[in-house]
Amino acid sequence: MHKFIAMVGTNSDESTNRKLLQYMQSHYADQAEIELMEIKGLPIFNKPENHEIPAQAQAMADKPENHEIPAQAQAMADKIEQADGVIISTPEYDHSAPAALLNALEWLSFHIQPFVDKPVMIIGASYGALGTSRAQAHLRQVLDSPELRARIMPSSEFMLGHSLQAFDDQGNLTDQQKATKLDGLFKDFQVFVEITKKLKNANATTYEEVREMDWEKL
Ligand SMILES: Cc1cc2nc3c(=O)[nH]c(=O)nc-3n(C[C@H](O)[C@H](O)[C@H](O)COP(=O)(O)O)c2cc1C
Repeated sequence: MHKFIAMVGTNSDESTNRKLLQYMQSHYADQAEIELMEIKGLPIFNKPENHEIPAQAQAMADKPENHEIPAQAQAMADKIEQADGVIISTPEYDHSAPAALLNALEWLSFHIQPFVDKPVMIIGASYGALGTSRAQAHLRQVLDSPELRARIMPSSEFMLGHSLQAFDDQGNLTDQQKATKLDGLFKDFQVFVEITKKLKNANATTYEEVREMDWEKL
């Protein structure tokens, strides 16, 4: 059985994206183990100085303000590395993914590489009619960046518009068509995970490139 991390793309306590992932967690329990991952609590990303200037790292190490990678980000990275894939459910803020989600991805791409060649399924819920179409397009671009290099499931979007009205009291999707579409996409994702395992010929070099990447030397 596949094991997936389901990343809640917001730091909001009340979230229809969290509800959507919880729905998947319980609805697909017979197909996969899905663990929710919260991004709430991560500090705002700023470049940890002790990584930027290795020679000075030791001198700075005893200063907590010199920001090591937060334990929360490292723990998230470890879980992602161990998972077969990641499902990210994003809200839409100002036609993009929320800053809190981009912030999490910045932490998860700076001197740690959990997303390299990792299968990712993007879904999203928003209050508006379009259901995160622009946020998803943005997120796809970010996950394809040189530091992240995730394997994003192609030609698939699950967009839950009017998300405040999308669930019943038991947390089920009220729109049967949407539920059926998600069933199909989730099955496809599991196939995609298996296909992606075969796309590992360049993994060692890709991983090395990402590990060695330094924008200041490009
Ligand atoms: C700052 C801000 C910007 C927003 N911009 C959009 C937007 O561009 N498109 C949209 O459909 N909803 C927009 N919304 C409403 C969101 O759809 C809604 O707050 C959120 O995405 C729903 O996700 P959640 O229930 O997981 O929090 C915006 C909300 C906020 C707070």
